[in-house]
This record gives sequence, structure tokens and C-alpha cells, in this order.
Amino acid sequence: MRFSYECSDCGKTYVSDEVMYQCPDCSQKNEKGSFSKGNLIVKLNKKDLAKLAEQEHVSMYDFFPYPVPTPEVFPVGGTPLARPHRLAAKYGLKNLSCKLDSSLPSGSFKDRASQLIAAQAIAHKQNRIALASTGNAGAAMSCAGAAYGLEIILFVPATAPINKLMQSVLYGATVVPVKGSYDDAFALSIAYTKEFGGINRNTAYNPMTIEGKKSVSIELFEQFGRKAPDVVYVSVGDGCIFAGVFKGFYDLKEAGLIDKIPHLVCVQSKQSNAISQAWKTQKYTNLKAATTRADSISVESPANGRMAVRYITESDGWATEVDDSEILDAQIELTREAGIFVEPAAACAWAGVRKDSAMLIEKFGKDVEVCTLLTGTGFKDMAVFQGRVSIPEAIENSVEAVSKRFK
Ligand SMILES: Cc1ncc(COP(=O)(O)O)c(C=O)c1O
Repeated sequence: MRFSYECSDCGKTYVSDEVMYQCPDCSQKNEKGSFSKGNLIVKLNKKDLAKLAEQEHVSMYDFFPYPVPTPEVFPVGGTPLARPHRLAAKYGLKNLSCKLDSSLPSGSFKDRASQLIAAQAIAHKQNRIALASTGNAGAAMSCAGAAYGLEIILFVPATAPINKLMQSVLYGATVVPVKGSYDDAFALSIAYTKEFGGINRNTAYNPMTIEGKKSVSIELFEQFGRKAPDVVYVSVGDGCIFAGVFKGFYDLKEAGLIDKIPHLVCVQSKQSNAISQAWKTQKYTNLKAATTRADSISVESPANGRMAVRYITESDGWATEVDDSEILDAQIELTREAGIFVEPAAACAWAGVRKDSAMLIEKFGKDVEVCTLLTGTGFKDMAVFQGRVSIPEAIENSVEAVSKRFK
């Protein structure tokens, strides 16, 4: 599929066969304390897109700007769509679904971006990919690197959660802890690729991260019987997944396969709500501190904040904020009443659906088709259950002990 780039801020188009990261003009206009500028949107050729409307089925690969070599090497996509009927009955949402991206190879949605970045690296004959991450993106890229035989250089703040880092180390990435913040690690990873070459996979900085993430919407379109759901709930930190979900539906609309982009709901913790607040106030101000327990969505200066705010509006969506306690309750509820085990950052989307359920029915009727994107497995962060869930004491190895236990 042929493509060009468009700056999401000034709208300028760039045509290049080279790897492009940001708008050379707008990325120089960043202001201290404000969301960064100059992220690029990948624009697919309209004629190529229109041809897809003639196909009986479409797959995510039809919409990708780079061919994915041997997808079976790193099998991303095809994640199940659960219909949790107990929760549907409890909240009166008859057509409730959960997209289980927690079942992707490295356990998070981030595999979608990493798959396309691996394809980009291979297309440009590069064997090395560098990035900054505090968790899932690093693990996902490291997983893809192990599968394809690519070298992954991962810059992390030295304070990053150990369990997610361990996963990247296990996949064989070169992990470089930095005595500084995530923003510092981000800047160093860019300095690294400038000096040593390779592809930089930083979220939103490389526009192909958003492009890879759009694959979820193409899948949803097929899973819903070649139509889009009415409303999609997404947990948001940097706003890159949110933009990917929008872009997938945007491309489907450009191809003439859907008439309308679903209402996209940005769900954030009240303790990390930069994008939600920006949408509400139209001021792109970074937070002084993000403190949510849902570490994957704890973000002070969202790397894709401006684009995410724009897409909330363009999808006729909205932002819902939830307390951390609501996120942790939602996590347990999904586990106990739907058999779905996700990390807190993913449960945030479900917390948003629960909170909005009465409003959804009032606004759209009880048949509204609501999809909750579940972006990471619960095994990523078992420490969150400390003090909340305990393992029962062992009984003696005797039938009497069993009788006593269940009397
Ligand atoms: C599990 C999970 N959910 C949601 C998000 C939020 O994605 P984004 O930062 O693109 O908004 C992340 C990002 O790390 C994540 O790992």
C-alpha cells in the first residue's frame, strides 16, 4: 500500500521513501509544559484503499503501509471477542463485548505496534530497533525482536516496574536503565538512533506505532460482521492506542467499508488525566505529576496528546475519568464475573464502561453495541493484589480436614 505522511498539527504533506519520524517544522515549536507537537499521520493512497471495498473479507495486512514478512513468526492479531453475559446482564448492556488483546504474544496490545515496526525495520534493511519504555512497549518490541532475530535496545527509567523489565531481559533485549525519568529515556533513545542508526520505535514519535495499532479496528470490523460497534472504550495514557483505534476506523471509512467512525471514549484515571482535561478545557497542559496505580497509563506529558484530543472530537466521543479505586474494583469484577484477567491499565476501560452504563442506555438505547478494549494481561502486575487478595491457609492432608473445611 502506497503512503505519504501528514503533520497532525500544520497539515503539511510529506512524501518520502526514508523513515520519517516527525514534522520538521512543528516538532521545533514545542513549548515547555505543553503537549508536544509535530506527530505525523500515515496517509494511505485513496485509490488503493477504495479497491479493498471489493474484497469479501479484509485483513489488517491489507491496510498496512509495509508488508509483514512471515506473520506466523510473530502471530499478532486474531484476538478473541468475549461476550461477558453476566456483566452484560448486571449493567443492562445487552450487546457488551470485550476485545481480549491481553492474549497477544507478549501479553499486551503493544504487540500490534511492534509487529509493524519490525516490518518497517526489515523493509529498510535495518537490524536494530531502539526505544524508551517503562513496560509493555519494551516487552512487546523485545518479543518481536526475539521472534524475528532483531536487536532491541531498550532505554528505561531506572525506577521502572521490575516485572515488566524482566520480561524484556528474558526476550534478550539490551536493557539500558537510565538515572532519570521516562522523558529522559525517550530523549536518550533518540540520541542513540541518531548516533548508532537503526529504527526508533518510541510511541507516537514513530508514526508506524499508531499505524500498527489500528489493526485492532480492522479486526473488530470483521468480528462484528463487517460493521463497526457503536461505542469503543479505550484506556489512555500517551494517547497512541486511542489514535490507532481511530485510524483503523478512519481507513475503513476511507475505503468505503463503514459510513461512520464509532464514538471513541478516552478513559483515564483521575490521577493521570492530561488528555481528558485537555479535551475538556482545550488547553494542552502537561500534568505536574501522574500518580495512578495503573502504571501503564501513568503519564504526565502525553506523547500523542494533541492527536488524541482531536480524535475524541472527530469521533464524536468523550472522555470519562475514574478513580484508582474504581479501576481496581473493575479489575476484580472482570476476573470474578467474566473470567477475564487483565492488568489495572486495561481494567481502566472497563471501569469507564461501568461508570457510563446508565448514560449509554439513556443516550443510545439498551441495544447499543459497546466494545471494551482490554489491553494487557493481569499477569503483568501481580503485586497489585498484595493486601487485596489472599491465598487460603493450607489444610492437613486428611479427609477429616476436608470435612472440617467444608462443614
Ligand atoms: C496495558 C495498557 N493499556 C493502555 C495503555 C495506554 O496506551 P497509550 O499510552 O497509547 O494511551 C498502555 C500503554 O502503555 C498499556 O500498556
